[in-house]
Amino acid sequence: MSDTMQAIQMDAFGGPEVMSLAEISIPNPSAGEARLKVAYVGMNPFDAMARAGKIGFMPISFPFTPGLEHTGVVDAVGEGVDSSLVGQRVISRSNFGAYADYSIAKADMLLLLDDRIDLKTGCVYRGCSFTAWHALYKAGRLQPSETCLLHSAAGPIGIMAAQIAKANGCRVIGLAGGADKVSFAEGFGFEHVFDYTQDGWVDQVKGATDGRGVDVIVDGNGGPNAAHNIDVLAPLGRLVYIGATAGDMPDPIDVSTLIFKNVSVVGMNLAPIEDVPNSETDQAIIDNVATGVWRVPVTEEVALADVVNLHRRLENRQVRGRAVIRVGGDLS
Ligand SMILES: NC(=O)c1ccc[n+]([C@@H]2O[C@H](COP(=O)([O-])OP(=O)(O)OC[C@H]3O[C@@H](n4cnc5c(N)ncnc54)[C@H](OP(=O)(O)O)[C@@H]3O)[C@@H](O)[C@H]2O)c1
Repeated sequence: MSDTMQAIQMDAFGGPEVMSLAEISIPNPSAGEARLKVAYVGMNPFDAMARAGKIGFMPISFPFTPGLEHTGVVDAVGEGVDSSLVGQRVISRSNFGAYADYSIAKADMLLLLDDRIDLKTGCVYRGCSFTAWHALYKAGRLQPSETCLLHSAAGPIGIMAAQIAKANGCRVIGLAGGADKVSFAEGFGFEHVFDYTQDGWVDQVKGATDGRGVDVIVDGNGGPNAAHNIDVLAPLGRLVYIGATAGDMPDPIDVSTLIFKNVSVVGMNLAPIEDVPNSETDQAIIDNVATGVWRVPVTEEVALADVVNLHRRLENRQVRGRAVIRVGGDLS
């Protein structure tokens, strides 16, 4: 085995052009760590935010290699790590560095990939379906027969949330940016998908709910559309914020508005409240994904050398569902 590998590297925060492919030494796992031969990496917005220097909650030092949500096969472990992990197919979601042939992860944060799920689907399904599930049920307290409204309906969280909520007997309305994304999302169980780059979506949502509004909104988009969320909430509705991909966080909402409208606003951050591996939630999600009941929206596959262009396209809102970066591929 050669002692060097291909990796995307960057020496400063900035636009996609700060990333370039380099030949660097293969890292060795320290105590408590495992090394993965990387298979696929999901193009998570966190990678673009990390590249741009917009993530304050995870330490980043240079040279930096993005790549958070990925799958691979463990090929070496550090001191104190069970050697039976070597050879296992795993999901890693806690360390950057996967835009490279090999990545390093904290061994106790790795998840074994269910035998029925392939490595490509594996790098995508867990983050988006868990975020969707927890936003809908734990934060939004969505009940069967209620109606929910999902921003970024053509993104992976929106698509998984639509399928999960529909399976639970809920009506699901989506909002997406542009006709192409609307028609893409329509294939995933939404009763309606409206284009929120056009005026009129507020009236369309009200019209679809006979003027009553929706019970739960999940918004990871923010931006100017967020200002209308309260307006389309039904009495006792819950507005769940999970992020702000479109820009700054929404403006604060007056308590008097909450009282007058009978609504609540909550935030959700998955990591501290995530149901543990092998929990009922975990098993339900794995079973539904593994059997194809819930379709994971992997829409395209690009090579490591093409990540600069992929980051550009993501930031120009040209990616539907989740793109994946193929590193080692299926590793068979
Ligand atoms: N709170 C949590 O625990 C948690 C966990 C995971 C993810 N998140 C957040 O959930 C949100 C959605 O995540 P995701 O993985 O589904 O995201 P994604 O696929 O990268 O993006 C979702 C959608 O955001 C919209 N968008 C608006 N402005 C954009 C911009 N400047 N660049 C790229 N996309 C833009 C696009 O839809 P349109 O063009 O249709 O608007 C895109 O399809 C993000 O804010 C993410 O940070 C939160």
